[in-house]
Amino acid sequence: MLTEVTATRYITPLREGGSLPGLIEADDLGTYVLKFTGAGQGRKTLVAEVVCGELARRLGFRVPRLATVELDPVLGLGEPDEQVQGLLKSSGGTNLGMEFLSGALGFDPLAFEVSPEEAGRVVWFDALVNNVDRSWRNPNLLRRGGDLWLIDHGATMIWHHNWPGAERSVARPYDASDHVLKTFAPDVAAAAADLAPRVTEDLLAEVTAEIPDVWLAGEPDFGTPDELRLAYARALLARAATVHERVHGIGEKENQ
Ligand SMILES: Nc1ncnc2c1ncn2[C@@H]1O[C@H](COP(=O)(O)OP(=O)(O)OP(=O)(O)O)[C@@H](O)[C@H]1O
Ligand SMILES: [Mg+2]
Repeated sequence: MLTEVTATRYITPLREGGSLPGLIEADDLGTYVLKFTGAGQGRKTLVAEVVCGELARRLGFRVPRLATVELDPVLGLGEPDEQVQGLLKSSGGTNLGMEFLSGALGFDPLAFEVSPEEAGRVVWFDALVNNVDRSWRNPNLLRRGGDLWLIDHGATMIWHHNWPGAERSVARPYDASDHVLKTFAPDVAAAAADLAPRVTEDLLAEVTAEIPDVWLAGEPDFGTPDELRLAYARALLARAATVHERVHGIGEKENQ
C-alpha cells in the first residue's frame, strides 16, 4: 500500500508542469508534489504515475516515494489564483503525492554525463511503458548529486485510453528519436536482458495492487477494480519480452 497522508497546507504551484502540480505539506510533515485528480488530464494520469513509478522502483530505478494524499477542498479557499483554486475545489478526496526532492535540478543532457548502460535502462523502461514524455524539450528526469531520478509518468501506457484496442496498441513499436538520453549511446539490448525477465506476473500484481480503487472504478467493460488491474498487468507483461526489438530512432536500432 502507498502511504496515505492528508494535505495540511497548499504551498505553491509548480508553474513549469503542464498539469499545474502543486507543492503541499501533509500531516506527516512531509512536502509533496501533488498531482490533482481534478486536473484536465484526469485520473488515468495518476494511475499511470503509480503503475510506472512503482514498477520502475522495483526494477532498481530511483523514483521519489509516492503517497496518496487526501485533500479537503477547503484548502483552496484562501488561494488567490483562480486556476489553482479551481483545481483544489475539484480535487476533493484522493490525489497523488510524490515526495519533493529538495535540492534536485532538472536534467540537462549537455551538462551531465550518463553511461550507455544507465541510458539503455531508462530508454528500455520508457519503451516498455510507452513513455512519450522524456524528450530533450521536457526530460522529466531530475538530478541530485550524481544520481538520476525518474519523475512524471503521466503520459504513458496510451493503451489505457482505449482498452478495446489495447492489444494492438501494446504491440506497437516505441519511437525513441526524441528521447533525452538518445545521445548517450543507450545499450537497450543489455538493459532488456537484465530487466525484461524481472517483469513477471507476480511483480506486476504487486505493482497494480498499489493503485487506489477509487481511480479504477467505473471503467466501461470492467466489473471490478481488480479486473482492470489485471488488464494493466497483462499489457506490460505482453510488451516486456520483446519491446527492445521495436525501439526505433536511436541509431543501430533504426532499421529494425
Ligand atoms: N518529486 C519532485 N521533486 C522535486 N521537483 C519536482 C518533483 N516532481 C516534479 N518536480 C518539478 O516540477 C516540475 C513539474 O512536475 P511534473 O513534470 O511531474 O508535472 P507535469 O505537469 O506532469 O509536467 P509536464 O509539463 O511534463 O506535463 C518538474 O519538471 C520538476 O521541475
Ligand atoms: Mg513533466
